[in-house]
Order: sequence, then structure tokens, then C-alpha cells
Amino acid sequence: MKFFIDTANIEDIREANALGILAGVTTNPSLVAKEGVSFHDRLREITAEVAGSVSAEVISEDAEGMIGEGKELAAIAPNITVKVPMTMEGLKAVKAFSDLNIKTNVTLVFSANQALMAARAGASYVSPFLGRLDDIGQNGMELVAQISEIFDRHAIDTEIIAASVRHPVHITEAALHGAHIATVPFKVLNQIVKHPLTDQGIEKFLNDWNNQK
Ligand code: E4P
Repeated sequence: MKFFIDTANIEDIREANALGILAGVTTNPSLVAKEGVSFHDRLREITAEVAGSVSAEVISEDAEGMIGEGKELAAIAPNITVKVPMTMEGLKAVKAFSDLNIKTNVTLVFSANQALMAARAGASYVSPFLGRLDDIGQNGMELVAQISEIFDRHAIDTEIIAASVRHPVHITEAALHGAHIATVPFKVLNQIVKHPLTDQGIEKFLNDWNNQK
């Protein structure tokens, strides 16, 4: 399983990229709004920093509007992936982007059937939202497992991005259940690097080194 970072914050993206683990970036309108910057300018900064897929979401609700927006986004850099919501109009847009060889990430996926439809329309990625399903008492990880099994059984090459990741356990389980990618907030990336026994171990090694006779 690869790591994407789920943010529009350029400092966090640079820091994560320096770790050598970053295969891509996902943004959404809420994350961009938090930054208070021009969307296109920020995408230029991000795509200059990260070579992998950078998901940029459309805000139109009709296919025609999505296609127009997506073409503009895709023109920013070759590694832009157009993020499209899982709706009837979204699927029409995904098909059009697929015909144009523009990569797509179908977002707000909450069922295996939605993932299958998105894949058949030509999506490059589907994003099941784990945390938001867990929030309403459903099992987000079960959805990842179902999508993974269906895609394997039917030889579908659309990649599964475990999204709406809230904590380290989501990451281990997403990897075990067949997600190709987890898109992770910067805070959770930090959490998965750390372990208290690692910190204690470093402290003991340093103490022993400094107290040698
Ligand atoms: C994924 O592409 C989304 O941007 C994101 O993971 C949503 O996460 P949230 O449910 O924490 O807002």
C-alpha cells in the first residue's frame, strides 16, 4: 500500500515528501478553503513539489461543468488527477475524462456498488471514506475489503484509495484489506512514525553511550 497525504497545506506536503514515502496528494474543497489561497496557484505549488498523482476536486454538479473545470485543472500539470463526486453526472464526466486520457479519482464512495460503477465508467481511483462510515456506525474497513475482493475477482485495475483516515489502526487495516493507497492527514502520518518503545530505546542507547567508562 502506498501513501498519499490528504491536505492542501504546502508545508505539510513538503515535510511529508522529505520522508521519501509520498506517492501523491489528495485535496478537497474543504481542505483548500482552510488554506485561504488561490486553488490553481496552490495546485501549481503542489505539483512542482510532488511527482505523483495530485487530486484536485471539481465543484460543478453537472457533467458539462465538471468536464470544463476538470480540463482546466488537468492543464495545470501532467500529474493532476481530477476528483469527481460519485453521482450520475460524475460518472458521465469520468467517462469523458477517460476518453481524454485524464486521470480521475471518484470521491465520496460509500458502497461497493458505487465503486464498481465508478471503475466501469473508467475511474483511475476510487475513494471509499472509512472515517465517515465509522462515524455513522457502519464498518468502513468492510467496504474496503468488499471493493478489493470485487476488483480482484473481476480483474479491475482501478486503484482503491482508503480515504477519510482518522487514526493509525485505519492504515494497518486498510493495507491488510487490500487498499492500494491510503490518503492520510499529516497528523496521522506523524503518529505512525512514532512508537514509545522507539523513543525509550533511543534514550537508553544515548545514556549508555554517554556514561561509558
Ligand atoms: C479524501 O480524498 C478526502 O479528502 C478525505 O479523506 C476526507 O476526509 P474527512 O472525512 O476526514 O473529511
